[in-house]
Amino acid sequence: MAATSQNSAWTADAVSGPDDFAVELSDTQRDAIITAAKRMAARGMTIADLWGRDIALPELRGTMRKVIREVTQESGLVVLKGMPVEELSEEEIALAWHLTTAPLGRLRAQSGWGELMGRVEYVDDGRDWRGYTKTKELNFHTDHADTVALLCVRQGPAGGASRLVSQGALRAIIAEEAPEALALLNRGFPYAWFDEAPPEATGPVSDFNVPVLVEHEGRVQGVYIQSFMLQAAEAMERTLTKDEVEAIDLVRQVANRPGVALEFRMEPGHALIFDNLSMLHARTAFERSDNPTQSRLLYRLWYATQPERPRHPGIAQYETALMRAYKDPSLAG
Ligand SMILES: [Fe+2]
Repeated sequence: MAATSQNSAWTADAVSGPDDFAVELSDTQRDAIITAAKRMAARGMTIADLWGRDIALPELRGTMRKVIREVTQESGLVVLKGMPVEELSEEEIALAWHLTTAPLGRLRAQSGWGELMGRVEYVDDGRDWRGYTKTKELNFHTDHADTVALLCVRQGPAGGASRLVSQGALRAIIAEEAPEALALLNRGFPYAWFDEAPPEATGPVSDFNVPVLVEHEGRVQGVYIQSFMLQAAEAMERTLTKDEVEAIDLVRQVANRPGVALEFRMEPGHALIFDNLSMLHARTAFERSDNPTQSRLLYRLWYATQPERPRHPGIAQYETALMRAYKDPSLAG
């Protein structure tokens, strides 16, 4: 089916729950993942050693083809079940997760340190703007990738539900209720670089606008990180107009309306694979535990789709700048 904005424009009210998006791995596939991950771990390999190599497991070919179609052209979301987290060590699970999801594209670096896998867990490091290492609620936002693959290794004692919302659905609601706000969101806003400015940056903020809820080549897409937009205005000593502030916040408000976003709590071995271009995601606050079996841990991989998917120029420019800031391995040489 050709990609259309309708395919990705669903609300939670229109589906029966996360199982509508579920894909379950078979025992044969689980065995193949376990064998390959253990073999690579025994050779001392890490995800970094696998970068750019064709490591796709033949046993998963058909399933991953279906996953990619669902994520990039249809609803934008797959809930993958049955990842063998019980049978593997933390190091082996990391390899297993990359071996499973490698067909999604090329791994993207996730920070200025160039890390290729994000450990989403509580870290006491004072870097509050990287909210995923804190226990507080995470507002709706986008990550820096075409596709995000998030595996639940361990869940905490309470909280930590995942929330996902379709940008297509948000666009349809806002177009109906506040078309002038949609125009501002589609025009976009400069984004603050914080301490991750690309080498070509001329100041603390992007010198171009980054849009959200914008229709581009048949799919609604965008970047949305509320604090980065507000911080950019502050850094430029520019006061956002009342209409701009309201437009930015309207996205969050509509996403939080009952029945719009899908919300559920992942269990160990469950994973979310979603189109970061056409969805926003959030997380409820969670309780942390000093018990190692209950310390919430997700493994996050960011993929750049190969071949590149159509992206609005403002989105492409922002993401390419961040790849330079993160010294992404695809830019080497
Ligand atoms: Fe995120």
